[in-house]
Order: sequence, then C-alpha cells, then structure tokens
Amino acid sequence: MTLDFTHTTLGQRVVFGTGQVAASVAAEVERIGAERVMVIVSGSAADKVTDFTEHFPVALWHREVVMHVPAEVADRAVAAAEIGDIDLVVSVGGGSATGLAKAVALQTRIPVIAVPTTFSGSEATNVWGRTENGRKRTGVDDAVLPRTVIYDAELLRGLPHDLAVASGLNALAHCIDSLWAPAADPINRALAVEGIRVLSEGLPQLGAESSALAGLESTLYGAYLAAVAFASAGSGMHHKIAHVLGGTFNLPHAQTHAIVLPYVLAFNAPAVPEAEARMAEAFGAETAVAGLQRLREAVGAPRALSELGFASGDIAEAVDLALEAIPGDNPQPVTRENLTALLTAAWRGDDPQTIAAQGPTAGTAEAAGDDAGLTPAAVEERLIDTVISSFSGTPDDRLRQLMTAVVTHLHGLIRDVRLTEDEWNQAIGFLTDVGHITDDRRQEFILLSDVLGASMQTINVSNQPYRDATEATVFGPFFVDDAPLIPAGGDIAGGGVGEPCWVEGVVRDTDGNPVSGARIEVWEADEDGLYDVQHDDDRVYGRAHLFSDDDGSFRFWALTPTPYPIPDDGPVGRLLAATGRSPMRASHLHFMVTASGLRTLVTHIFVSGDELLTSDSVFGVKDSLIKDFAQQPAGTPTPDGRDLGDVPWSRTRFDIVLAPAGV
Ligand SMILES: [Fe+2]
Repeated sequence: MTLDFTHTTLGQRVVFGTGQVAASVAAEVERIGAERVMVIVSGSAADKVTDFTEHFPVALWHREVVMHVPAEVADRAVAAAEIGDIDLVVSVGGGSATGLAKAVALQTRIPVIAVPTTFSGSEATNVWGRTENGRKRTGVDDAVLPRTVIYDAELLRGLPHDLAVASGLNALAHCIDSLWAPAADPINRALAVEGIRVLSEGLPQLGAESSALAGLESTLYGAYLAAVAFASAGSGMHHKIAHVLGGTFNLPHAQTHAIVLPYVLAFNAPAVPEAEARMAEAFGAETAVAGLQRLREAVGAPRALSELGFASGDIAEAVDLALEAIPGDNPQPVTRENLTALLTAAWRGDDPQTIAAQGPTAGTAEAAGDDAGLTPAAVEERLIDTVISSFSGTPDDRLRQLMTAVVTHLHGLIRDVRLTEDEWNQAIGFLTDVGHITDDRRQEFILLSDVLGASMQTINVSNQPYRDATEATVFGPFFVDDAPLIPAGGDIAGGGVGEPCWVEGVVRDTDGNPVSGARIEVWEADEDGLYDVQHDDDRVYGRAHLFSDDDGSFRFWALTPTPYPIPDDGPVGRLLAATGRSPMRASHLHFMVTASGLRTLVTHIFVSGDELLTSDSVFGVKDSLIKDFAQQPAGTPTPDGRDLGDVPWSRTRFDIVLAPAGV
C-alpha cells in the first residue's frame, strides 16, 4: 500500500486534569495574558465553577445559554463582550455553551478557552453554528477553534445517565463515521480507532450516576479523539442520515445517533474489511457490529427510531433527503431500496445484522443460488430482485418499466406493513368482489380507483397545466359513448327529472381563437342522484353530445346538478363504510370536449356553494371548475324563449379552453 494523503491538524492545547479546572483555567489565562475574562456558563454547570474568581479575575459572568445558538442570544453575548471590553472567553458547559463562545469568537475574534461538561466534542472543531429564523447555519472558521480545551472529569459527575450514554455514543459515531468519511486518512483513522477503544472501555463504567471518575475520564478522552478525527475526516453516511432525521423530523440529536449507528456500521462493514477488523479489535469483539451491540446492551442505549416518535410514514421522505446528502464514495453503494431497508430496520429496532445482507454479501449468497445463511431481510430483497429480473426480457420498454415499478411498490407495501397471509387473502377477496360486481353497466374498478385518489392523480400527472387551458378532473364510471346528438340549445335531460338549467359558453384554444365543431359530451345524474345506466332498463337520460358553433359558442339545457353518493352497495361502499368515509360527491355536470389538434378535455363543473365541495369522495374538485349556478325564480324569461311553465330554473356559464394536443 502506498501512502498518499493530506491531513490538517488543528492547533490547540489540550489540558487534562481531574479536579483541577480552576487552576488549569487560571494558568491558561495567564499564559494567554488576558486581563478581562468573560465566563459563559450554562445553568447546569454554574454551581461547579463558583471558585473561578478565587483563581483569576472574571470581568463578566454570562449565563444566557440556549440550545442551537439562536441568533438573538449570540448577538446579546457579542454585545456583552464588546461592552465589557473582553479579551478572553471561557466557556463552561456542553455543546451549547461552547457554541455560544464560538459565536462570540466568530464576530469579535476574541480567543476562547473551552471547558466541556459533556461529550459533545464541539470544543475540538473549528465549526460554528447559529440558528436564524428556525434554520441552523454552520460554517468553518479557525477563529472559533478554542485555543485551549480543559478537561476535568469531576465536572461531569452526576451527568444524567441517559444523556451521558447518548452523548458518549454520539462520540462513538464520530469515530466510526471517520473511518469512511470523504476525507478519511490514516491519521484520523488511527485517532478514531483509539477513540473506539477508550469509549468502549469508558462508557460501561459510567454507572447510573455517572460517578465513576475512571469511566468519565476515558469517555472524555475518547470524545476528544472522536471530535479530532471527525473534524478532519468530515461527515460520512451516518452523520448525513442523522442530520436529516434531526433537522427535518426534529429527532433528538444524540439519541438518533445512538440508534442509527449500528445499522450504518452493519451496512458498510462488509465493504471495509480492514477497518472492520480494526474496529472489532478496538471493541475487543469478534466483529465490529457485535462489539457495538454489546456496548449498547451494556449501557442501555435506545433501540428504535419509533421510540423517538419517528413515524414509519416519514421513512420515504427521510430516504429521499438522505440519498441527496450521503457521499457518493460511501464504501457500500447506497440505493433507495437498501436505505429504505436500513431506516425501516432502525425504525423497528431490528437486529442490525439484517442490514449487513443488503450489500455484497447478499450478492454472494445469491450467486450460491439458495437461501442458506441469508437473513430474512436478504431473502425478501432477493425475491424482489428475482421477480423484477423475470420481467427483464419484456420487449416493450414502457411495459418493463411499469412492471418493475409495480413489483417494487407492491413488495415495498407488503414489507412495510409486514402483511399477513390473512390480510392478503382478504385483499384478493375484495378485488374478486370488485370484479364480480363489474359488468357493462357497473364499473366498480373505476370507483375503487376514484376513491383511492388514483384516478385524480393520474389526471394530475397526465394533464400538466398549460397556459390558461381548462383543468381536467376525473372521468367517473358513468360515461357511455353513444349518447344522443342534440342541436345547439337542445336539452340533454331526455326525460330525466330535475330543475332545468341553462348552460352556455365558448370553446377556444389557448391563443384565444374560437374552436368550431368541437364535440362536447355532457352527462349528469337526475335529481335523485341516479344516472340512467343505474336503472335496470335501457332508458337514456341526462346525457347527450353537441358541437360548438362557428364562433366556438355552445348552449344547451340540462338539469341543475345535485349531490349524489357514488354506488355504495358494493365492495367499494363497504371499504368507505369500514374507514368512516362518506360516499357523497359534490354536485357536478360532466364534460368531455374533443377537437382536432387539441388536447381532449375530461372535466366537470361544480356548483358554487355546495357544502360537499371540500369532501368530494373521489377528490375531483378543483377551484377553477366551481361555477355559479344562478337561481332563476319561476316565470323568469328564458334565454331562448323556451316556456318552462311555472318552475324555477338556473343558469351557468362555462367557457372552455383547450390546450394543444401533445402538451
Ligand atoms: Fe358524476
């Protein structure tokens, strides 16, 4: 192996000494030659450093420390330092206190001495962070690197056990991720491996009260090594995932690290055998994963992301975000599938070893051609691959793409919910019922597609908005393609019962030109909410087709639309009932408009003011399609002079704009 690397060591003094913090700080104050010292101290640490004033002059105590360094808190600390003519900042506390001191240094260039009271490790880095308008900004500036770090294990005595463990495992995550991060080099690997060794010794010794000084010292030392290695190596796969979970889903930082780490380790380990062997040795275990798991067991680490309130429904988004962030040179290639499997396992708290099979080891077993030695997750993954490859000879590219997606998503669903055989049989029974009730007058599959929003979603993806073209909506199950022709101004009611409604408008293209001869199909239910095809005879009503005039205009009589339930006496109705959903559709009139060279428009218009507009059972309502149906009292003269007798009627206008074909 040839050595060829660049490593930057950050210049910093480190002073270790238990029970000596005040004297150690005093010596550094003198060495730096500071005269006006500002001590930033977080609440939990304040009682432990009251003797500072006996050892060196403190010009200012600053106690406002807030997590994630909010900008206004940082600005107040900067102002206090400037007004107090401060020439040295000493921070005492966890990552938030160190972070605030760094924020002061960033603006004022005043040197910092850090006295950490947790294992956060930020004292060893030149990275600063500041939260403005809810977003954390970070950056790198050597001025924020503390000149000196003073470690005194005594200060950590009584650290709550959960916090100590989570923060110690966070340090361990820094070590492990440093082994494969983008700028990993032999020097930071050496530091990282030593960090793993001392952390795995120290953490189990902490005890419930974090009272064992030996354990605290080892863990502090390990946390420092971890931070130095990490500062040099950069963020690897583990930290990118943890950053997404913390930043987007607000999961607690240290606990998230503690949970995700074994899964990332198990995932990457097979691809980095040399590093894996060094980690295993540092853990004193047969494998790195076994060592980490033993350590987690010993310290009672949190197990599953579900325990932190992370929802399985958020896994897909987390995968998308993490995929963008994970370095491309991660030793194990990361795909949507294997990352989903990883986060799903972490969500459930599965044995991390199931993840090891996502990588090349799975491929090896595959080549062997049997399931022997494969984990259950690997067997599941292998089946997906096998089924997908069974379609690889499909001559039609689009069909092959569709079948691959069907298999991927169907298997994803089965695995996500851990589908039982009973449930799958019920699903098959349900689809069988949907098929049995479907005939040439009843289309239950369209209903099913509609109530699942699949029809509407297909329309969304297939009818991208184009200039001012009229929006499309669901086709519905009640169209028939041989509806009668009516002349301009004719009546589509055809004996269907309901309040008469005058409909008029103009068909034009998106350049504003009238479209003559456009074929306009119209259909609707009667006042009882029934379409003609829902009766057991051959009657035809509430439907017709007509053509636009030379100037694009059209007009016809119809029935004022009324709300109706989609047919709910079949399997889809049972599904709605079982899920507490209403079958009601908002009042509407269906249109399908075709004209040569223009995109066919399938849409409805809805009645303004209908209270079902926001709860349409098939998700078909779009604001632009809601129209005013103006009520006309009985006796109001009609536009075409038609005598309606003594009945009220309504009128509406619907101007139709057709997009060009092919857009
Ligand atoms: Fe309808």
